Amino acid sequence: MKFTHAITRKPGNSFPYGITTAALGKPDLELALTQHNQYCSALVQLGLQVDVLPVLELFPDSVFVEDVAIVEPDFAVLTRPGAIPRRDEAQEMLPVLQKYYKRIYQIEGNATLDGGDICKADDIYYIGLSARTNLEGAQQLASILNYFGYRSELIDIRRLQGILHLKSAVNYLGEETLLLDPRLAAQWPFSGYRKLVVPLEEAYSANCLRLNEVLLVPFGFPHTLELVTNAGFDALLLDVSEYRKMDGGLSCLSLRW
Ligand code: GLY
Repeated sequence: MKFTHAITRKPGNSFPYGITTAALGKPDLELALTQHNQYCSALVQLGLQVDVLPVLELFPDSVFVEDVAIVEPDFAVLTRPGAIPRRDEAQEMLPVLQKYYKRIYQIEGNATLDGGDICKADDIYYIGLSARTNLEGAQQLASILNYFGYRSELIDIRRLQGILHLKSAVNYLGEETLLLDPRLAAQWPFSGYRKLVVPLEEAYSANCLRLNEVLLVPFGFPHTLELVTNAGFDALLLDVSEYRKMDGGLSCLSLRW
């Protein structure tokens, strides 16, 4: 799929006060802004039109826009984030999506779903059941996807300690290839993929992002860089150290279609 659009949101002064399990200290806001600019510039370089949304101080984690929607070229789904402080973030994305989409669906009721739990591999969506995404949320999304002709499969990561979202641990790189955290690789139910497994000490870098012909790789993970380069991917390094401190990775920072 050729990506043409992306939505990102700038981090605000409240960013260091968001939710995190990482014991890496508080992010440096100035550096986070620099890294965000570099990230947006990379997307532009790769041919995407990038809509950079203004800061939402009320929502420290709102820079992680991936969690609040699932986007395809012809429809979008607003999520219902699993973390209560993030719950109302999704509504803030509605007017933005209305600029681009006629068909917008919504995860409702007691269902919860974070976009970080959704891993698309060509025409199949893997939906993570996690501390953030419950069965009802996964089922609501699956039925919307099914309507549009996509298959989906649930992957339960609730017993995998230290893995926040499905995409913290598995990402589809294209060319029938998955990049995996070794803890998920051991459980991954499918044999049809080429699997690239990052070393445990570089588990964070399982969250790489394939955009058009290039693979965005977080800076500072030499074994993963070697792994993907040897596998034939054209890697572009981006430093997202300040987002890692808040449990976010390369994919979390944008919505793309
Ligand atoms: N800090 C990102 C999240 O917990 O959702």
